[in-house]
Amino acid sequence: MSIQNVGVVGAGQMGAGIAQVAAQAGFKVTLVDLKPEFVAKGIATVEKSLAKLVEKKVLTQEQATAARGRLTTATDLMALAGCDLVVEAIVENADIKRKLFTELDGLVGPAAILASNTSSIPITLLAAATKRPDRFIGMHFMNPVPLMKLIEVIRGADTSDATLAAVVAAGQAMGKEVHSCRDFPGFISNRVLMPMINEAIFCLHEGVATAEDIDAIMKLGMNHPMGPLALADFIGLDTCLAILNVLYDGFKDPKYRACPLLVQKVQAGHLGKKSGRGFYRYG
Ligand code: CAA
Repeated sequence: MSIQNVGVVGAGQMGAGIAQVAAQAGFKVTLVDLKPEFVAKGIATVEKSLAKLVEKKVLTQEQATAARGRLTTATDLMALAGCDLVVEAIVENADIKRKLFTELDGLVGPAAILASNTSSIPITLLAAATKRPDRFIGMHFMNPVPLMKLIEVIRGADTSDATLAAVVAAGQAMGKEVHSCRDFPGFISNRVLMPMINEAIFCLHEGVATAEDIDAIMKLGMNHPMGPLALADFIGLDTCLAILNVLYDGFKDPKYRACPLLVQKVQAGHLGKKSGRGFYRYG
């Protein structure tokens, strides 16, 4: 099927970024969140990012204005009724996501595709909350969405070939490289990334090196854009812990056990950049 109207549920950092790249690609986009102030914050994020892309000459002012013009907002899910593709980017809670998908399933057209941007909740579990598991898929964008090249596409147990093809085409139209994988814990990105981050936290916990030295060694030695502790702060330490717990529960393998220092940071509310403090302190 050809996708023209894209819905995004959740106007946080990820949802705003997804809405932005879809609008930049020429899709008509409807961004929905529960309250007007959440939607307004999402739009402010998009406008700031578009302005930055104009400043960097990635986009012309005309392209940015046109992208913004393709973006509308709503606080009622009914606004998504005419969408061909709806991408969910709400809180990482399986019960809340399942409830949302049951509702979306009842209001979008029969051919519409439902997608989740979850970083680790099983796609098959979310798809089972709908009557369209064949038209259900994982579309895992990376943060910051406007800059990161990848979409990790996850095929649930019943995702059809036609759904995969339509979503790959839509992702490519958004200027992304799309790579797919099957639906097993942590998919590929977080199954590989989180053990590295966790090991860096263990190194800090055991006093092997300072946070600055751990990050510098990995950044300079491996040519990573950020060290693993700075990256953990950027992702959010609560998110890192939740993903590690999904890996641990899913594989029942102790190699995925979260470092106690990570658990303690989350208990203290030191969640990284978003709370002003994690492994580092932020302005
Ligand atoms: N839109 C537009 N411009 C943006 C932006 C956005 N959303 N975010 C940052 N920029 C701009 C910055 O403002 C900056 O502009 P100036 O040069 O004018 O200051 C420019 O992009 C470059 O940024 P920085 O100079 O701060 O730093 P950088 O060159 O290192 O790039 C980065 C920033 C792209 C974030 C880079 O550090 C990077 O690639 N880091 C790793 C990110 C990563 O691994 N993301 C994946 C996380 S995992 C995930 O998302 C999935 C999950 O499930 C957990």
